[in-house]
Amino acid sequence: MQIHYGTLELNTVSTDAVVLLVTAAHLDGPKTDFEKQVYGAARAQKFSAKPGEVAAFPTFGLIPAPHVFLIGTGNDDHLRRAAGAAGYKARELGLKSLAIFGAPEGENAAEIIATGLAAGNYRFDKYRASKDRKAKLETVHIAGTANSGAQRGLKLAEARNLTRDLVNAPPAEVYPESLAAVCESLASDTLTVTIWDADKIKSEGMGGITAVGQGSSNPARFVHMHYKPKGNARKSIALVGKGVTFDAGGLSIKSSGGMQTMRCDMAGAGAVVGAMKAVSLLQPDVEVHGIIGCVENMCGANSYKLGDILDMYNGKQVEIHNTDAEGRLVMADCLTYGDKLGADAIVDLATLTGACVVALGDYYSGLFTNAEQVAGGLSSAAAVSGEGLWRMPLPDFYKPMLKAEWGHFKNVGGRAAGSITAALFLSEFVEQTPWAHIDIAGPAFLDKTFRHLTCGGTGAMVETLYRWIESK
Ligand code: BES
Ligand code: ZN
Ligand code: ZN
Repeated sequence: MQIHYGTLELNTVSTDAVVLLVTAAHLDGPKTDFEKQVYGAARAQKFSAKPGEVAAFPTFGLIPAPHVFLIGTGNDDHLRRAAGAAGYKARELGLKSLAIFGAPEGENAAEIIATGLAAGNYRFDKYRASKDRKAKLETVHIAGTANSGAQRGLKLAEARNLTRDLVNAPPAEVYPESLAAVCESLASDTLTVTIWDADKIKSEGMGGITAVGQGSSNPARFVHMHYKPKGNARKSIALVGKGVTFDAGGLSIKSSGGMQTMRCDMAGAGAVVGAMKAVSLLQPDVEVHGIIGCVENMCGANSYKLGDILDMYNGKQVEIHNTDAEGRLVMADCLTYGDKLGADAIVDLATLTGACVVALGDYYSGLFTNAEQVAGGLSSAAAVSGEGLWRMPLPDFYKPMLKAEWGHFKNVGGRAAGSITAALFLSEFVEQTPWAHIDIAGPAFLDKTFRHLTCGGTGAMVETLYRWIESK
């Protein structure tokens, strides 16, 4: 998509649709004859300019554009939803161009509009016959003054859409080796990529990744992406992502319904890959490590078993009480590796627990940390990005729920506080680096369309991570 700012006239602009961004106050204000007609028709449909609300009409030759969309806007978050709705509607109708009137000026607004348009216009349609695919937006003209915000927003959107593609793609396409190959494709003069195969993972002592991965004919991969800015780095941070490319549950097998969308279980790794993509496109002056553990959690003759005691990468032993609590085992080894890098902060992302979905639903990711500064930074970045991130408690005194008979801990803590005990488990694998864990099990993947995000992978936390990195 290309975005151009400039002077636009309703009566002359050549485009597939005109978008008028309006607030409730606009509806009562002075207007041109054309606006009078459109606003009147919208009122008749009970349009009240709520954020992201759309009233769409044919223009019957009153202006050159064949369609006009009246879309409700307001503050930054409302503007994001309005732009998202414009992008969504355009894709529904297969429109290639839009002309937007009523957009606020400034870099911040331009960035919001670009990311919103792209998020709404996104569809995963590469598996559809070409005749069933709707055209994407190619050109958007916006009435206003040009600035760098739109180009920055388009780059963030490109990174986020990469994550959405990876999460949406079927597990036959995205498996440990192919996910690692996508990471490798990001390599450049500022970004190096190191990949360990299953033998190396085992010989290095990563007992968690090895055990979870051994039940599949698609062997595990461990990936370390390392971005170093050309100049001096102000800070160094590490991102860690859960890359379970399919979670069947292992021998503690899931129900068919519970397994249906478990290709999304690599969304944490997907978010890390998306953030690294954003980093490579925008080149911040912060050193960034992206670490992902990629496995398929399958049920097979070689699967790890209940009662197994794993030797983890940090030397602790874990007793297996449920093979479906596999994410924390993979993450544990990745966190130990990340902790050794001496970064200023480490943040992990995982579709870790169903309990987090029960607690917070599809809009909020859970934030678990005792590092106040990291909590503050991530929360601000999420607010700027319009993403839901809700702080959860991480009390030490729940740790006894993980106490084991024959190892240091069990891999499950029982039904109560399931997302908290999972986070406490992870905390045992970070010793020296300020650390935060984000459980994205709800927002990473939508079963049905929400606002301007079509169902499926959402690219949750990609924008938040990038803005947090830049704010360091
Ligand atoms: N990948 C799942 C968590 C999940 C559930 C992600 C729903 C997205 C949507 C995870 O590996 C899992 O199965 N967790 C178990 C843990 C339990 C066995 C302690 C769960 O949440 O039921
Ligand atoms: Zn699982
Ligand atoms: Zn899982």
